Amino acid sequence: MPHAKLTDRFGRTVNYVRLSVTDRCDFRCVYCMAEDMTFLPRQQVLTLEEIARVARNFVALGTEKIRLTGGEPLVRKDILELVKEIGSYGLRDFAMTTNGSQLTTMAEPLRKAGMHRLNISLDSLDAEKFHNITRTGRLSQVLDGIDAAREAGFRGIKLNTVVMKGRNDEEIPELIEFARKKQVDISFIEEMPLGEISEHDRGLALCTSEEVRDIIRQHHELVPATEDSGGPARYYRMPGSRTRVGFISPHSHNFCSTCNRVRVTVEGRLLLCLGNEHSVDLRRVLRGNPVTDDKLRETIINAMDLKPEKHHFSTNGDVQILRFMNMTGG
Ligand code: 5AD
Ligand code: SF4
Repeated sequence: MPHAKLTDRFGRTVNYVRLSVTDRCDFRCVYCMAEDMTFLPRQQVLTLEEIARVARNFVALGTEKIRLTGGEPLVRKDILELVKEIGSYGLRDFAMTTNGSQLTTMAEPLRKAGMHRLNISLDSLDAEKFHNITRTGRLSQVLDGIDAAREAGFRGIKLNTVVMKGRNDEEIPELIEFARKKQVDISFIEEMPLGEISEHDRGLALCTSEEVRDIIRQHHELVPATEDSGGPARYYRMPGSRTRVGFISPHSHNFCSTCNRVRVTVEGRLLLCLGNEHSVDLRRVLRGNPVTDDKLRETIINAMDLKPEKHHFSTNGDVQILRFMNMTGG
């Protein structure tokens, strides 16, 4: 089949899809989930076959890059089967966002199944703070997981740190040293107001990328990287190190004009924008009678018209989007 292209009303080409494979997670990060979460009943969740079907049809429509997210993708049973399937599509880039808790056993099988790159969440190097942020996570387990991932030979490993004032902003220099020592990249992320949380006031906790850069510059020179990742992150290099430092700044930097991505929730909702509720129900099509790939592709193509021009996150901590990140796909 000739590769069609997905384009929206603003001339943006969509060639990157993020698929959430579960809403469940073994962690309860304060910025992502409430402490007691109820998860979706199984019937509402796409089967692995349905997720693969969505992926395959996006690839037929020109998708070059797929990221599996969650929740925590590695807590989904038989996830390696899906990774193998999507790994066989010959994508330019195939990646996963993970909290790292299962990587000691899963890193190598993932790499062998065709996964190219990993993003691993790491918000603190202090066991107690790490536990306070993740509520159920154990730091040592994740550090071992990071080492396992390095040994498995991925094309790239990036750490993701959500920076929150008073929780982990003092650790920025240590996290940078850690990334340099392990020869992995690291991105600092401004917290986004997704879902109602009670643990901290987001308006107060927001640490802007500008502030993070200033802190790093007290220790290292940051040279803007010339290559464009095509994503929302802005990258810098530190002379003498292979580690790249990224900044994802939904509050201070509007990256919408170059947005090339859409998301599919684990319920099969195709989300056209992280910061807006515009969506189309793919599950209805996947479970319709008869199910056809033509119908699915037509639905995806038509959905592009709903992609909004930009998102509007406010910095005062107001929640405009009620779904949590684990429903959205980080
Ligand atoms: N704001 C910013 N990033 C978030 N993540 C989850 N929730 C939020 C939020 N509210 C990101 C974190 C985590 C990944 C799974 O999703 O980077 O590492
Ligand atoms: Fe789990 Fe990631 Fe959400 Fe933390 S941020 S609770 S690790 S899905």
